[in-house]
Amino acid sequence: MKKKKGRGPKVNQKQERQQPVTKKLENKASKSQALEGQVQERQEAGTGDKVFEERLSRHHDELRWLYMELYGNGSMFAELCENLYTFYKERNSSLKESDLEREKNTDWYQQNDMLGMMFYVDNFAENMSGVKEKLGYLEKSNVNYIHLMPFLETPEGRSDGGYAVSDFRKVQEKLGTMDDLEQLTAACHRRKINVCMDFVMNHTSEEHEWARKARQGDGEYMSRYFFYDNASIPEEYEKTVPQVFPTTAPGNFTWLQDAGHYVLTTFYPYQWDLNYQNPRVFNEMMYNFLYLVNRGIDIIRIDAVPYIWKELGTPCRNLKQVHTIVRMMRMVSEIVCPGVLLLGEVVMEPAKVVPYFGTVEKPECHMLYNVTTMATTWHTVATRDTRLLKKQLDIVNGLPKDYVFLNYLRCHDDIGWGLDYGTLQGEGMGERSHKEYLNQYFLGHTGESRSRGELYNADPVTGDARFCGTTASMCGVEKAGFEQDEEEMDKAISLDVMLHAYMFMQSGIPVLYSGDEIGQVNDYSYKEDPNKAEDSRYIHRGVMNWELAEKIQQKDSVEGRIFNRLSCLEKIRKTEKVFVNQADTKTVDTKDTSVLCIERSLKDDKIIGIFNFSEAEKIAHIEETDGDYQDMLSGGKVKAFDVKLPGYGFYWLKRINPSIS
Ligand code: GLC
Repeated sequence: MKKKKGRGPKVNQKQERQQPVTKKLENKASKSQALEGQVQERQEAGTGDKVFEERLSRHHDELRWLYMELYGNGSMFAELCENLYTFYKERNSSLKESDLEREKNTDWYQQNDMLGMMFYVDNFAENMSGVKEKLGYLEKSNVNYIHLMPFLETPEGRSDGGYAVSDFRKVQEKLGTMDDLEQLTAACHRRKINVCMDFVMNHTSEEHEWARKARQGDGEYMSRYFFYDNASIPEEYEKTVPQVFPTTAPGNFTWLQDAGHYVLTTFYPYQWDLNYQNPRVFNEMMYNFLYLVNRGIDIIRIDAVPYIWKELGTPCRNLKQVHTIVRMMRMVSEIVCPGVLLLGEVVMEPAKVVPYFGTVEKPECHMLYNVTTMATTWHTVATRDTRLLKKQLDIVNGLPKDYVFLNYLRCHDDIGWGLDYGTLQGEGMGERSHKEYLNQYFLGHTGESRSRGELYNADPVTGDARFCGTTASMCGVEKAGFEQDEEEMDKAISLDVMLHAYMFMQSGIPVLYSGDEIGQVNDYSYKEDPNKAEDSRYIHRGVMNWELAEKIQQKDSVEGRIFNRLSCLEKIRKTEKVFVNQADTKTVDTKDTSVLCIERSLKDDKIIGIFNFSEAEKIAHIEETDGDYQDMLSGGKVKAFDVKLPGYGFYWLKRINPSIS
């Protein structure tokens, strides 16, 4: 084995990265000319493609500028451009058609018809072809966007739910093949369903070909990761880099006994962080990205995006180079596949999230998760106090309307308590004690809690812990079902449906986790699987229970009550234009801290949603005197004035006959 000192891989990196400035400039001119030469050659030979050349020329200068700034490597840039063309040529005609269509209607995903659902392929329908068989159910659930949770090859038992990819071009055998994926995406497109997948670009599995070669001491491949032959630099990093999994995978480095090196592993020890300082890594990962979107993927979820650039002496999160990379990725996609959306997974406080949208001239991600709103929602459930949520919604509503958020009540990951503690402190709530309160509450130990679930990564040092559970279990469906308490079940279902109604009222794209539409509860069977037992996130990643799903036909069943009420709301959302992203959205004071009111208006249309976060009957002291209102669910005429709501009740009211002022 080749042993290297300190930052061993630099030898290779140097070859690709470091060139004198004058050389860089020469490169810049000559490569730019060379590229133009290629474009011209293609045009003269009649082999070029006008659409592609036009898109490339639109982005070329900025892309080149950023690339050279980061890597100073003209030949690698030229290689990238050549491959963009190759991937463009490979893209099939129906995807190209959809690209052109979407280029004309760039706000196609900001409409009121979008509803997402995420699921693991095997949990949902065994395999890719199984999912194809279930498209009817998805349509019935009003879903037109499915997020297939990680399905690429990953080592069994060392997969982090598929987020440790060992081959970016191979589907896990048990789920099918790339062909099956293409057939599934084509079938989805025929039904106007968009398909989203994860692109895990921060790291690879230790079983990935690059990692295996790196482990054997091949410098070329070591340079694609962060290898150190002694602890001194890793120790320096540890001084400034926080831990992601303090309990299940403490620290940020893993010692590889056989290789005699430390390797950077921000997440699990078997997930090796890629080194984006190496342009080979960037180029190859862009090729993987394009290969995948050419299989018919519409939405790419960029996993763990804030982490992709590392710099000693920093927290290695949200560094400015991350934005350069995401911006370049956006341009790459606009050149090759402009119909594809980038969804950034940025689980950070609001100030860190929003920059990932980029600017109007230089956009980065199309969509981001509304993570703080999600966490604040559950804080509101536990406290019955909507004030913090109102403040959070006011912040989001004040952002440009082109920013599209993905709204969700929970996903496949834990709920981290990233709240605005500055504000809570003003109310006398300390961060640590409040987090403890929330965790105890959702464990079902405190107050008026009906929740069930488990802690995740409880850190004994910081006292921090996150929470896992399905929406239904956190709302009390599990407890009431177990205790066969009908009254409690009514409350649980009311809370569950009210939370969805409130989520649908927000601007953006609502996304459900599969099973939530029928109130599926926690699944404790993961504890019996040694590959999963350590990771409580599996409690809310259970197998879809199709027997329960059958029960949606029975109006009085728990499944039927939840499914049908959600379905009704989803259909209203799809038909009322006022739910588009461009509508004005604001909160309205109700003079009762447990009642939240959201108003949406678009031209002459106006609707208001009123949500009671308490189990007690409440009155929303609102005074909407600008016309008559109609209950959008029952169709009955109502006054939007001192509205009485049952415990966990809600109203969606629509203004009819606006009074002329
Ligand atoms: C993302 C995923 C999470 C995974 C992590 C590491 O945060 O959502 O499930 O553990 O990335 O890839």
